[in-house]
Amino acid sequence: MSDPRPRTICCIVGARPNFVKIAPIMRALTDCDGLTPQLIHTGQHYDVAMNSIFFDELEIPRPDINLEVGSGSGTEQTARIMLGLEPILSTRPPDMAIVVGDVNSTLAAALVAAKLGIPLAHVEAGLRSGDRSMPEEVNRLVVDRLSDLLFTSEQSAIDNLISEGVSPRRIVFVGNVMIDTLRACSTRAAPVRSTLSGAGADPALSEQAAALGFAFVTLHRPSNVDDPERLESLLKALARIARKITLVFALHPRTRAMIESAGLDALLLTSSIIVTPPLSYLRAIGLMKEARFVITDSGGVQEETTALGIPCLTVRDSTERPVTVQQGTNILVGTSIEALASAVDDTLAGGGKRGQIPPMWDGKAAERIVAAIDAHLGGRHALLPA
Ligand code: UD1
Repeated sequence: MSDPRPRTICCIVGARPNFVKIAPIMRALTDCDGLTPQLIHTGQHYDVAMNSIFFDELEIPRPDINLEVGSGSGTEQTARIMLGLEPILSTRPPDMAIVVGDVNSTLAAALVAAKLGIPLAHVEAGLRSGDRSMPEEVNRLVVDRLSDLLFTSEQSAIDNLISEGVSPRRIVFVGNVMIDTLRACSTRAAPVRSTLSGAGADPALSEQAAALGFAFVTLHRPSNVDDPERLESLLKALARIARKITLVFALHPRTRAMIESAGLDALLLTSSIIVTPPLSYLRAIGLMKEARFVITDSGGVQEETTALGIPCLTVRDSTERPVTVQQGTNILVGTSIEALASAVDDTLAGGGKRGQIPPMWDGKAAERIVAAIDAHLGGRHALLPA
């Protein structure tokens, strides 16, 4: 018999990529009879540009609670989120907590839920770069260890979890919620010209980018931007690439702060690089859709470019999303500047890597997640045939 009591599902988010992933889940939870969603924002990301504009564009309901933890070291952020969440989750424990992705907010929320005995679901479980110097990799390992339901987006994630000893009964292959959002928003993507003029770009350079083509750049991983020498060599490489194709570089706050403190601003001023502040979701996907190729170190952008069929050059030695390389448009160029330059030349000459859309990246991942949670908690879906 299904249990008719409404179940509260608490979604905990904190950083920009979390917002993109939670939007379709909140919608699917709201549409599911018998489940009541609650949204807690940790406040890890707090600027309008990194935060509230995503809630507006993606029509995510206002959070029920915002912990407003702000910036700090990874440990400080994690500790502050844990201290803020514990009294909230222990006073009114939800029937299940959902965390998404791999940011510090994901880790902190998973730890509190596990310690309070609240069933935990992790969306985007099982991804592994194999590189424990990435803060996100440590977060992924711990969160998966603590989760009761593990929702995966690609086959490698299932293989990783099984090899780590997770019971297959707890793993559900649902597809990719980031691609749910991309598909839902694609027709609303902002036109390139309006994004560039909105960012205050030089009109002649913007026209050149829109008319002749451009490459879109995002870089913010600590391994690329925290070391001033590494950052300088990357910026010099971008300046050389910009002699061949206009670059539109959306600067993450971490990257901007590092460029300023290392006194490297001039490297961005002297070449045909259009620098923008962090972009809203609709602006970012508008640029990605129209770019000739993308240079990035972001996890989500590797997936979005694969879904859009846009060539992607990833400036990292490893990826936790290997399906984007095996089946999609992604090339892992490594961290060598020469390798980046030569991948750009190949892409300009040959049009770039083509790929296909990975299995289950069909815009319905959130529906599958909510059906699985409902069934797990004994709701209506528990009565449906498997
Ligand atoms: C975090 C995630 C990373 C994700 C990225 C997306 C972790 C470990 N990392 O990295 O996985 O890809 O978000 O953006 O959680 N800042 C602002 N405004 C904001 C938010 C942050 O200026 O709204 C500043 C902070 O003060 C800090 C810097 O940006 O100086 C970095 O922020 P932080 O939350 O520490 O991590 P990210 O580098 O954004």
